[in-house]
Amino acid sequence: MLEETVVGHHPAHAIELKSISKVYGAVPALLRTDLSVQKGEFLTLLGPSGSGKTTLLNLIAGATGPTTGAILLDGRDITRMPPRDRGIGMVFQNYALMPHMTVFENVAYPLRARREAAKAIRVKVTEALERVGLRGFEDRKPRQLSGGQQQRVGIARCIVYSPAIIMMDEPLGALDKNLREQMQGEIKRLHKDLGTTFIYVTHDQEEALNMSDRICLMSMGEIAQLGTPDELYFQPRSRFVAEFIGESNLISGRMDGRGQMLIAGDRSIAVPGGIPAEGAEMLVMIRPERVRICGIDEAVADDNSLSGEVASSSFIGGTTRVTIRCDNGLNITAKMMSDRSETRPQSGARVNLCWSSADMVVLEN
Ligand SMILES: Nc1ncnc2c1ncn2[C@@H]1O[C@H](COP(=O)(O)OP(=O)(O)OP(=O)(O)O)[C@@H](O)[C@H]1O
Ligand SMILES: [Mg+2]
Repeated sequence: MLEETVVGHHPAHAIELKSISKVYGAVPALLRTDLSVQKGEFLTLLGPSGSGKTTLLNLIAGATGPTTGAILLDGRDITRMPPRDRGIGMVFQNYALMPHMTVFENVAYPLRARREAAKAIRVKVTEALERVGLRGFEDRKPRQLSGGQQQRVGIARCIVYSPAIIMMDEPLGALDKNLREQMQGEIKRLHKDLGTTFIYVTHDQEEALNMSDRICLMSMGEIAQLGTPDELYFQPRSRFVAEFIGESNLISGRMDGRGQMLIAGDRSIAVPGGIPAEGAEMLVMIRPERVRICGIDEAVADDNSLSGEVASSSFIGGTTRVTIRCDNGLNITAKMMSDRSETRPQSGARVNLCWSSADMVVLEN
């Protein structure tokens, strides 16, 4: 199918934000931001509370207008278009169902607002309820449903009119862990079945890693990093990204001019990449699962090692997390598959830590 192409617009992009920003009074909620969301992609906005996630969604939905910039939907400028004309569906954390209406009427609501015929409404509502596994619940009121079921109604009400973009703001925030994981699977399946562009908000990094094609990690009204889950986990650009996604050991030091980094306690370690200039200040990161613990007399195969004493060891089911107070003063965390208690590292034990410089990431300082 040929698409109308507007100059400067890439047709594979469903949404383009150009230099968009939002200031509330004196509060800069979103600094100037460029972001392109591709057609059919599952993009997650991830970030701490107050980082601007909901602000970004509200700007796209048209619930609020930007202070600067433009929003394009399939190449058309919608910056000043009223929300209801944008064809963007929204699912809220608190479900926002109408309590006095039945499930059927809640889901039918957007169709009635669009003055669709009764027969079409019946067909579409039935299909939407079928998709979220709620056939047979048509006559119930929201209070007669569990939290997960209420959220399924919220999703059915969103998909019933086939919006071009579906946005969800922390839709699973009110649910317990097991149900949340089940609903993550259902939302992913829905995305695959519908092929619609999804923009999803969460502050749960595991949820973001599990569900997304790309993650847009926000911090203080800015994009800290935009990339695939792999890119954010394995190639974090900054300290903020490394610490927000997964666990990390950060080590700072200064290059000695021979490819080694001088760190605390007059120790030196090998770092990846080219050899930065002598005296360069560096911040590097190693993930806990890349750090191995070996016996104090064991030969070390990797190019980096430090010795120390086990400060704490916590058994968390499948994995065990061990913090080592190294002799040079650094605390390093290692994570491994769990062994039985007899063979797990015990507090107070002397150990060697080792890791490969190839597993380290150099961060922007
Ligand atoms: N209507 C408003 N008036 C004034 N300030 C606002 C308004 N809405 C948001 N803000 C401020 O803008 C910033 C970003 O808020 P936003 O709601 O986008 O954060 P968020 O990332 O969605 O956070 P959370 O995870 O807590 O939902 C915050 O500092 C917030 O206090
Ligand atoms: Mg929010």
